[in-house]
Amino acid sequence: MDIHIDSVFHSFLEYLSLGGLVLAEALDHLDDTLSEWPPVLLVALTAFFVTVAMEMYRWYSDSDLTLMQRGKRKFFKMLRSAPIIGSKIKKELKSTKTNIAQSSFKLPKGENYRTTLPKTGLSHQELMSVVKKNYKNLEEIDWQKGKVSGTVYTGENHGIMGQVFELFCNSNLLQPGVFPGVRKMEAEIVAMCCDIFKGGPESCGTTTSGGTESLLLACLAYRELARARGVQRPEILLPICGHAAFEKAAHLFEMRIVRTPLNKTTYKADVQAMKKMINKNTCMLVVSAPCFPHGIIDPISEVAKLGLKYNIPVHIDMCMGGFLYPFLRLGGHDIPPSDFSVAGITSISADLHKYGKAPKGSSVVLYSDQKYRQGQFFVSTDWVGGVYASPTLAGTRSGAVIATAWATLMLQGLDGYIQHADRVIKTRESIEKRLREIEGITVIGQPKVSAVTIASNVFDVFRLGTCLTEKGWQMYTVQNPSGLCVTVTDLFNKETANQLIADVEEGTAQIMKDPNAKAEGMAAIYGMASTLPDRSLVSDFICGYLDAFYSTESHQ
Ligand SMILES: *Cc1c(COP(=O)(O)O)cnc(C)c1O
Ligand SMILES: *[C@@H]1O[C@H](CO)[C@@H](O)[C@H](O)[C@H]1NC(C)=O
Repeated sequence: MDIHIDSVFHSFLEYLSLGGLVLAEALDHLDDTLSEWPPVLLVALTAFFVTVAMEMYRWYSDSDLTLMQRGKRKFFKMLRSAPIIGSKIKKELKSTKTNIAQSSFKLPKGENYRTTLPKTGLSHQELMSVVKKNYKNLEEIDWQKGKVSGTVYTGENHGIMGQVFELFCNSNLLQPGVFPGVRKMEAEIVAMCCDIFKGGPESCGTTTSGGTESLLLACLAYRELARARGVQRPEILLPICGHAAFEKAAHLFEMRIVRTPLNKTTYKADVQAMKKMINKNTCMLVVSAPCFPHGIIDPISEVAKLGLKYNIPVHIDMCMGGFLYPFLRLGGHDIPPSDFSVAGITSISADLHKYGKAPKGSSVVLYSDQKYRQGQFFVSTDWVGGVYASPTLAGTRSGAVIATAWATLMLQGLDGYIQHADRVIKTRESIEKRLREIEGITVIGQPKVSAVTIASNVFDVFRLGTCLTEKGWQMYTVQNPSGLCVTVTDLFNKETANQLIADVEEGTAQIMKDPNAKAEGMAAIYGMASTLPDRSLVSDFICGYLDAFYSTESHQ
């Protein structure tokens, strides 16, 4: 729909920009009366039409949103500035924001925030005591047993990570001459990952600070390619379940997101629909293996074929699955290939800090060929501070983060990752099977990796979410359709699995006594947030929450 309107409008603009010329020509053929118009007037009219057309084109193309989205935004903006409704909305918004701030981050009784430097620095002993007592102890949610979806992927090797970190904590990858060891480690991480994903001799990549940065860089690289062929606002074709970080890329890099539909039964990207949405502005196609919200694998090879056919780069987002998927295949699990051996795949992102088991702050973005990677590099040749270049978004990069990631790869080894992937998948399979047997809930699609998403056709599934939160679970709440996503990690053991099933059974049985009851509390907020037509209102609420991140008023 959006696309349709956009392309009609596009043609209209082209038509209009021709208007000036057409007019000039038409005037040329007009009868005596008109031919007596002074030439100055004709020139002025032509200039006028061309300017109007150019202004309209600029307005049309100068946004990362489609016309439909912008129309909606405008409408709600008007609504919010309307006399009575507007002030009511504003009041509601303000009180909700205060509520969020007060309920989000609470300190234990008697504790406060420190907002100024201590006059004299603490001793090591004092420091560690404060860190443990007033900060580490704030952790209340039991993540050690995997009751938190995703988030923490390993409980191993903390001690040795600390030792490796210590060796390199002052190193800076911006100065590889000074720190040759960490440069070597980064190059080796990239090489080992290219090997894991079956890259050819031209394959390459960089490490990054996380999945988001990996995706941003791939988008930037492809934007540069599209710009080189004259595309003003390159479009990222992305299935509906593709990660929000692509939207961030579009937002930052003046690109545009075009969401492509999913097959309604399988929840995989609908390849035929994607094909229809390709146009001359398309700079990349995206698939996920698996996607974050449902743990479902998109049709990798079909989309790769589209990429080949239309000569468009194809990125596989394996931020989640990168350190499970290849090892599942090596371990003999029956899943289709998802790496550079599939012709047409030009880049892959994989998070070391998820199933790679590395400390947080590390991921890789890999390319099938160096010509793609070049687009993410930045070089300033004329800066007063000297010729400056950096391969990723950051300037200074900690060598210690690279060193711990490298150390993790070495500690796990091929066998370690194969066994780990096998354990995680067996846990997911077992809870999925048992979830499917519970009356009142369903599982979305056929998940193949580590996540399962619970939905319900009978009741508001966010009510179940509330029950589970009360029992100490932290699931991801997904929307459109509403669901509760459990991303199983290695911390999630048999006992955790049994507990989850028991808690879901109990919660569901409770809700099934009155399936049509209305959701309350957080469940109501999630429900409202996913159905509220004014998305900017949702965004305002969430900004209130982000503000609360930095609040140092102690709400107890
Ligand atoms: C986690 C994830 C990302 C984003 O990674 P961050 O490390 O959180 O920045 C992107 N895509 C998928 C599929 C993910 O699971
Ligand atoms: C969705 O997938 C199913 C199962 O693979 C298939 O039978 C169906 O034709 C697909 N629907 C569309 C619209 O492609």
